[in-house]
Amino acid sequence: MAFVLAATGSAVGLGNIWKFPYITGENGGGAFVLVYLLCIAVVGIPIMMAEVMIGRRGGRSPINSMRILAERDRLSSRWKWLAGVGVLASFLILSFYSVIGGWAVSYVGTAASGQLSGQSAEVIGAIFSGLLGDPGKLLIWHSLFMALTMLVVARGLRGGLERAVTILMPALFVLLLLLVGYAMTTGHFGQAASFLFRPDFSSLTTEAVLVALGHAFFTLSLGMGVMMAYGSYLNKNVSIAKTSLLVSLMDTGVALLAGLAIFPIVFANGLEPGAGPGLIFQTLPLAFGQMPLGSLFGTLFFVLLVFAAWTSAISLLEPLVEWLEEQKGMNRLVSTLGAGSLCWLLGIASILSLNEWSGFAPLGMFAAFEGKTVFDLLDYLTANILLPLGGLLVAVFVGWFMARQALENELSLRGPWFGLWYGVLRYVTPVAVAIVFIYNLV
Ligand code: PHE
Ligand code: NA
Repeated sequence: MAFVLAATGSAVGLGNIWKFPYITGENGGGAFVLVYLLCIAVVGIPIMMAEVMIGRRGGRSPINSMRILAERDRLSSRWKWLAGVGVLASFLILSFYSVIGGWAVSYVGTAASGQLSGQSAEVIGAIFSGLLGDPGKLLIWHSLFMALTMLVVARGLRGGLERAVTILMPALFVLLLLLVGYAMTTGHFGQAASFLFRPDFSSLTTEAVLVALGHAFFTLSLGMGVMMAYGSYLNKNVSIAKTSLLVSLMDTGVALLAGLAIFPIVFANGLEPGAGPGLIFQTLPLAFGQMPLGSLFGTLFFVLLVFAAWTSAISLLEPLVEWLEEQKGMNRLVSTLGAGSLCWLLGIASILSLNEWSGFAPLGMFAAFEGKTVFDLLDYLTANILLPLGGLLVAVFVGWFMARQALENELSLRGPWFGLWYGVLRYVTPVAVAIVFIYNLV
């Protein structure tokens, strides 16, 4: 139970409610969603099982679990750097995740003050642009979000968080259902459902396939060692397959509900599905502005969104802090302050790329990065490169280097299930990731 709660707390976050809808909108809907679901099933779930298994067998922080497993099977100790890739990725992700978490914090106040009620799409859009255009405000909210994250990591309050997840996740689910219910009254629910679920492959680009694959890793918190860290809490008698499946299903369910809540509002108000990262902040406030008790529900929703983002952010900071403690001998407070403030500092670059530096594309000389701001680059580098790379290495390590007997003992799957998982992990996962990678990089 502790594992399921911690893993769900990490998985369900901004990736589901903020990122999934906007990348779905940018990448044309149905075909993208289908590829994403396929990536969850064929790449995400098998890798989650592999990561959880490494964590449970190693019983330490990710880098040390990898080192222990490699030593036990007389493999190169260089495998531990696989978890190193993950620690770097989680540091980079947290820097901009906290900025978006800050947006959510600021909307708690916006909703509570009643500013949203009865407003038009133009006014709601202007409120959002006002926030993005003000680096000072963004900095305050980013700092607050990062401080909240550091507070929990420094004190190791995991037990309290797990208890909170049991209440707040179901509440988030209920509010999303309420929003979907509202969305059904807009008269554009059918259009949204067909946008999300009727695939039109003619509009699917290869870049979209890479984004879908990267997002499968991002949303399930994979490729970074987070699930390894949490797997070390899992008892020997618990089924890794069942718990991984449960966490993945909950994560996917929240993302699809968010999509079903948002797109009817997009179509009903003539907004642009490809509006980008601001999509949920330009749509959901409209719904809260129009429904009865909207200020109350809106406030509650953004509180829950902040909470979901917070539990994910904690899991992003944890691996780096643990590594500093184990490797550099720092105490928890010092390592949290050190890692957290570096992350906070890097977050400022993402803040500026939303306003002052919005025209600055540091790697713009390469065609692939044309027009990408610092924020875009961090997102691209982590979700589309580092996470799939981390996942690929996990699949190769577990599928090709660990002893098969050990895997059978860990998973204790009956019937054809072990063979299916093993085959997928050995062949399908690495090949799928490699193809998408090579295609996009070359
Ligand atoms: N899975 C989280 C989300 O969807 C983000 C995250 C990624 C958290 C990687 C931890 C590690 O919001
Ligand atoms: Na997620």
